[in-house]
Amino acid sequence: LRHFLSIQGLNRELLTRVLDTAESFAAIGAQQVKKVPLLRGKTIVNLFFESSTRTLSTFELAAKRLSADVMNLNVRTSSTKKGESLLDTLRSLEAMHCDMFVVRHSDSGAAHFIARHAPSHVSVINAGDGCHAHPSQAMLDMLTIRRHKGSFPNLRVAIVGDILHSRVARSEIHALSTLGTGEIRVIAPRTLLPRSVDSLGVHVFHNMKEGLKDVDVVVTLRLQRERMQGALLPSEREYFRLYGLTEEKLVLARPDVIVMHPGPINRGIEIESAVADGPHSVILEQVSHGIAIRMAVMAMAMQVPVPEAKEAR
Ligand code: CP
Repeated sequence: LRHFLSIQGLNRELLTRVLDTAESFAAIGAQQVKKVPLLRGKTIVNLFFESSTRTLSTFELAAKRLSADVMNLNVRTSSTKKGESLLDTLRSLEAMHCDMFVVRHSDSGAAHFIARHAPSHVSVINAGDGCHAHPSQAMLDMLTIRRHKGSFPNLRVAIVGDILHSRVARSEIHALSTLGTGEIRVIAPRTLLPRSVDSLGVHVFHNMKEGLKDVDVVVTLRLQRERMQGALLPSEREYFRLYGLTEEKLVLARPDVIVMHPGPINRGIEIESAVADGPHSVILEQVSHGIAIRMAVMAMAMQVPVPEAKEAR
């Protein structure tokens, strides 16, 4: 694993190894001294061309817990604002002997582009590119599901909302499918589904009450308005009525259902507060798991020996 750009193309063994490695880092994270010296002497640059709260913070924290030197390039005040090309920015950073770029960009394929142009000793991690992929989010979600449900083959998972513009949905569908999930459902209006949905190996529902029936896991998604170009949408009130996750709709799922959301949440649009903060919600656990997963991905990409997972399943 030199780069971590997409879930597509990775096999079950590798995804399981990421989860197991994250388990061992989570165990270290629960101790009083959370740091390990695995990436001492390495320099990691977070290059976020799009806003982020969870991903940027947990990548930074993960790198620090691995004892790496971390730099968050402030794109708003960097020379990219003076017209410098992405490639010239990268060349300058490479001249500072960086070892890893963690990249978020609004263009699908940006992380792949950087990986193609990076020198052979540099790893590139995709922290979300356009509508394409968000692989570390998918893996922290898989860790959350595995911790609650044990394994994937007997599970019914529903992903609800703006599938069309969601890099999280795309990466999650690939991860769930590779890990052998029993049934993957998507629940969305026709206008928020990709044309290629039939090739994804999912069951499509347009009616929330039908789609939620007997599911073990519900993943709700935000309406990603920043990526919509003239999509036909109901009003927010109408969307909430049809696709908002409410306590009333959630009773149709299994009694031990877990409710997930990658964040940021728009309360009252895709989810009501009683559900987001309710007993089935694991949304804040997802955020915590981001640190262990990102430690695992960075350590594996840097090819350092990682600690054995004591509680690996
Ligand atoms: N889930 C996610 O990517 O959140 P941020 O945009 O806050 O990083």
